[in-house]
Amino acid sequence: MKLEIFKNYDELSRNAAKLILETVASKPNAVLCLATGDSPLLTYQYVVSESKLEGIDFSQARFVGLDEWVGIAPTNPGSCKFYLNKNLFEPLHVHSSHIHLFDGLSNALDDECRKMDDAIKNLGGIDLMIVGVGVNGHIGFNEPGVNPGLYAHIIELEEITRIVGQKYFGEATQLSKGITLGLQHFLEARTAVVVANGEKKAAIIKKAIESPVSNSIPATSIRNHHNGLVYIDREAASQLVKN
Ligand code: F6R
Repeated sequence: MKLEIFKNYDELSRNAAKLILETVASKPNAVLCLATGDSPLLTYQYVVSESKLEGIDFSQARFVGLDEWVGIAPTNPGSCKFYLNKNLFEPLHVHSSHIHLFDGLSNALDDECRKMDDAIKNLGGIDLMIVGVGVNGHIGFNEPGVNPGLYAHIIELEEITRIVGQKYFGEATQLSKGITLGLQHFLEARTAVVVANGEKKAAIIKKAIESPVSNSIPATSIRNHHNGLVYIDREAASQLVKN
């Protein structure tokens, strides 16, 4: 695992965007799995602006979803699908046939999981996965205690995830379960990047980097990744022993 500490959120985002742009420039049909949430938002803004400036074409890139809130419609601005459409797929003009996302409204969620596992296999695996980290150490919706051997699955969300998740929604929203890629997908991605910024992430980043690798803190699994990167800003790094 390689740890990169950037002076601020802007630098972190520019560099994470560079990774995405370089991946697609060198492999136009790369398979990307990109988290939603606040952490990578500026990264995606840079991807959109820089792809135009540098003429990097995303029309052949493939996208697979990381996770979705179960029971939330894609028209809800708090859904992962809405976020990705708005911040990436529409501005990058990604064709819908190149996008594989979970349907959180499906009546057959297990089938959704199998469909996603199959899609990733058929695409030849994930080239680049960018994830945020929850204050409880989750990656995607792999909550503490998750079976690390799982691929896509449904999971009961911890109370903290349900509470923090309210920030994505315009009104109080009942959140109970998530549908998510598993830690096996994360470990098998050719490159995996954890991004985190701000003091609010300092305590969990310290645990992710310094405490023993364990499913009680899913983010520690980045240290088992064969090509894992941790991109954080100085604030998120502020509790690390050496920073
Ligand atoms: C979102 C996701 C979550 C978030 C995490 C951090 O697709 O998978 O694991 O990455 O909860 O969220 P932010 O970035 O909003 O702090």
